[in-house]
Amino acid sequence: MNSLHPPTASRAGLSGLVRQHFGRRAAGYEAQALLQRAVACRLAHLCRDLPLPAGPRADLGAGSGLLSRALTVEGLLQLDLCPELLARNPLQPRLVWDLNDGLPAQLQGAGLLASGFTLQWLDDPSRQLAHWCRALAPGGWLALAVPTAGSFPQWHRAAAAAGVPCTALELPAADRLLNAAAGAGLHPRHSRVLRFSRPHQGGLAALRHLQRLGAGASRRPSLGTGELRRLLSHWPEQEVLTWEVLLLVGHRNHPVAVTP
Ligand SMILES: C[S@@+](CC[C@H](N)C(=O)[O-])C[C@H]1O[C@@H](n2cnc3c(N)ncnc32)[C@H](O)[C@@H]1O
Repeated sequence: MNSLHPPTASRAGLSGLVRQHFGRRAAGYEAQALLQRAVACRLAHLCRDLPLPAGPRADLGAGSGLLSRALTVEGLLQLDLCPELLARNPLQPRLVWDLNDGLPAQLQGAGLLASGFTLQWLDDPSRQLAHWCRALAPGGWLALAVPTAGSFPQWHRAAAAAGVPCTALELPAADRLLNAAAGAGLHPRHSRVLRFSRPHQGGLAALRHLQRLGAGASRRPSLGTGELRRLLSHWPEQEVLTWEVLLLVGHRNHPVAVTP
C-alpha cells in the first residue's frame, strides 16, 4: 500500500520527482490519459480558426503530444521536462526544458502558447502563467487547460474524516490564475471552469489511476501504512473522483496606435 505514496519534495525540488514519475510511466501514459485527451479535443475545438500572428508556437509540457495533435497547428515546439514522454511524441521539434526556469529565449514574441495539464506542476503557477502571457506577440494567443483547486473534493473529505493529511498536489485557484493572466495583458475569449467526474470505485482505484498516469508526485510527506488504511476506510467505495479544470483561450493586446 505504501507504494501509492511516493517520496515527496520541497517546493523548490518538485521538478526532479515529477520528471521521475512521468518518466517511469511514460509507456502507459496515453492509455490512462482519457480526461487529458478529451480536454485536449475541447480546447482544440475552441481554438479552431484562431487568427494566429507570426511568431514561434509551442506546446508547454507537451508530453506525448496529445494536445498538439488535437490542435493541428503547424510548427508547435514540443517542450517538456520529461525526455521519456517526449521520446513517445511523434511531433517535431522537441525540447527538454524545465518550465520553472521560465520560457526559452526562442519563444519570445510567440504567436501561440498552448498547454494542457502542466501548469499545476510548476512551483508558482500564477507567476509562470503571467510570464507566458507576457511572452506572447501582440495579438498572440494562449490556449490553456489546467486542473484547479476545486479538484478531488472526495480525497480532501476522506482525509479530513480520517484525520490524516491530504497528500493531493496543491492545485492553483482558478480565479488567481485568471487575475494573473489579466494582469499580464491577456484578453480572454473563452474562460470556463468545468467539472469532470471519473468513475473510480473509491479511493484505492483513484490513487492507483494517478500513479499509472505518472501524476503521483507530491510536495507533502507520504502517509504511513496505518494512515493510508484509515484514509481508504473513510473514502466511500464506488465514489467518483471529480476534477475541476480551467479552460482559458485568450489573446494579448494589439499595440495601441500612437498618433503624433
Ligand atoms: C499530465 S501531463 C500532460 C501532457 C500533455 N500536455 C497532455 O495533455 O497529455 C503533464 C506534463 O507536464 C510536464 N511537466 C511537469 N512539470 C514540468 C516542468 N517543470 N517543465 C516542463 N514540463 C513539465 C510533464 O513532464 C508531463 O509531460
